[in-house]
Amino acid sequence: MNIRLHYKISPVIMTNTGDPRPTVAQLQDIAENMEIKSAYHVLKWAIDTYGSDVGFASSFGAEDVVIIDLMNKIDSKKTKVFTLDTGRLNQETYDIIDIIRKKYDIPIEIYFPERDDVEEMVRTRGLNLMYESVDNRKLCCDVRKVRPLARALANLDAWITGLRRDQTSTRQTIKKVEIDVLHRNIVKINPLADWTPDMVWNYIKANNVPYNKLHDLGFPSIGCEPCTRSIKPGEDQRSGRWWWESSAHKECGLHWKTQKG
Ligand code: ADX
Ligand code: SF4
Repeated sequence: MNIRLHYKISPVIMTNTGDPRPTVAQLQDIAENMEIKSAYHVLKWAIDTYGSDVGFASSFGAEDVVIIDLMNKIDSKKTKVFTLDTGRLNQETYDIIDIIRKKYDIPIEIYFPERDDVEEMVRTRGLNLMYESVDNRKLCCDVRKVRPLARALANLDAWITGLRRDQTSTRQTIKKVEIDVLHRNIVKINPLADWTPDMVWNYIKANNVPYNKLHDLGFPSIGCEPCTRSIKPGEDQRSGRWWWESSAHKECGLHWKTQKG
C-alpha cells in the first residue's frame, strides 16, 4: 500500500491522532489561546508545528526584522524566509536584505515576477503605469507582488507575516493565527498582530537589530520606490504608501483581495 505522510511528528501540539497539525476545528481553539500569547510563543508554536512547511514573508521592514530576530532566538535557521522582489525596491531595502542575511547567516529566497507578465504590462501600459489609474496600479501590484506570493506559498501549509492591527482599518480584525481564505485556506500567522510601533522600535533598539535606513528618513512603512514616500511627524503611518490614491484603495492584494478601481 502506498501511504503518503503529509505531516511530521512534533512533540509540541499533539492532536488525538498523534498528528501535530491541528484540524480546522482544533485550530479555532488554538487560535483563541494564541491571542494571549507573546510573539515569541506564537512564532515558536508555528515553527514547531509546521516545520519546513511554514515560511516567513519578509519585506524587511521594522516588523519583519523583529520577526527574524525572534526566529533566531528560537534557533529556527531552517524556516524558509522569502521576499518578493518586485524589481522596483529601494537600494536601502536591498542593503538591509544583505545585512540580515549575513548577520543571521540565513538563506533568503527571492521571488521575482514572471518576466513575460512584466514585459507585456510595461509594453502596453508603460513603466510608470501605477500613477495613471488605480486599475493600472493594482495590475502592477498583481504582477509584481501578488502572483509571486502565490508561487511562494504554493508548497507551504502556513505562512508568517509582520502584519499589525493598528496599521490600517482593514487590519484591525486580524488574528495571531487564522485561516487564509485568499491562499488555499493555509494557516496565516501574525505574531505581532497586537504590537504597537513603540513596541517594535523598543525591541529593535533593545536587541540591536539592523533595520532599513529609510526608517530614519521618515518612512514608517516601506514598499516599492515609486509608490512610497516619507511622511511628516503626526501623519498617518501608511500615508506615504500610494500617496496619490484615496485611503480606500491602499492595499496591494497580498493580504486582501483588492476591489476593482
Ligand atoms: S503591503 O501589503 O501594504 O505591501 P506591508 O508593507 O504593510 O504590506 O507589509 C505587511 C506584511 O506583508 C509584511 O510584514 C510582510 O510579512 C508582508 N510583505 C509585504 N511586502 C512584502 C514583500 N515584498 N516580500 C515579502 N513579504 C512582504
Ligand atoms: Fe508596482 Fe508600486 Fe505595486 Fe510596487 S507598489 S508593485 S511599483 S504599483
